[in-house]
Amino acid sequence: DSRLPLRGRNVLVTAGPTQEPLDPVRYLTNHSTGKMGYAIAEQARNMGAKVTLVSGPVSLQAPHGVDVVNVRSAQEMFQAVQGAFEASDITIMAAAVGDFRPAEQAAEKIKKNGRERITLELVSNPDILAWAGANRREGQTLCGFAMETQDLEKNAAKKLTSKHCDMLIANDLRTPGAGFATDTNVVTVLRPGANAEQPHVEHWRKMSKRELAERVLTELAGLH
Ligand code: C5P
Repeated sequence: DSRLPLRGRNVLVTAGPTQEPLDPVRYLTNHSTGKMGYAIAEQARNMGAKVTLVSGPVSLQAPHGVDVVNVRSAQEMFQAVQGAFEASDITIMAAAVGDFRPAEQAAEKIKKNGRERITLELVSNPDILAWAGANRREGQTLCGFAMETQDLEKNAAKKLTSKHCDMLIANDLRTPGAGFATDTNVVTVLRPGANAEQPHVEHWRKMSKRELAERVLTELAGLH
């Protein structure tokens, strides 16, 4: 069915930021709003897919007809993805996962206690997309995102290969119309090329996150 190109397929999407708890009242997070990932989940549903959306804390409405798994931390997101990945045909990771979390979560609220300076120790979080890339089986399609502030293509190319993705969608935080809270995006799309040093690169014009979602899903639907 050309109007439902994803009918019968399972699509797994991650979206939003993560929250990494410091104590019972505080956490580390980032500016992700979840708009890109939610647009992808909605569009995949519209295209006929059975959609699982693993979402960090956002203020967006859960899309109708989409199976939403709400998580907070990167570790929780990792668990949710591990549970859903096996059944997934097309996996798209649009979440802005915290790279680090506090090494310890204080049981009680951290007090000033007259201190002028305290040190926070952070430990690295699991890279969920890299795990999926390492554990993907034949026929599974994998797409990652990358937000960069410098050397966009070079950094994105590295992620495409190191995380074993079929597609990597990169945007520059500082490009007008791209980035976190906007309804539009301006992206560079990378696909594996003849060798790791030379991915296939396309620069897409500025478009709504909804249109971008549709174009990305249409390309991914044709891959496997
Ligand atoms: O390396 P970087 O964080 O820029 O990679 C971005 C891509 O990797 C995104 O698709 C993001 O959802 C995913 N990612 C992840 N788990 C992490 C870090 C990033 O799934 N811990």
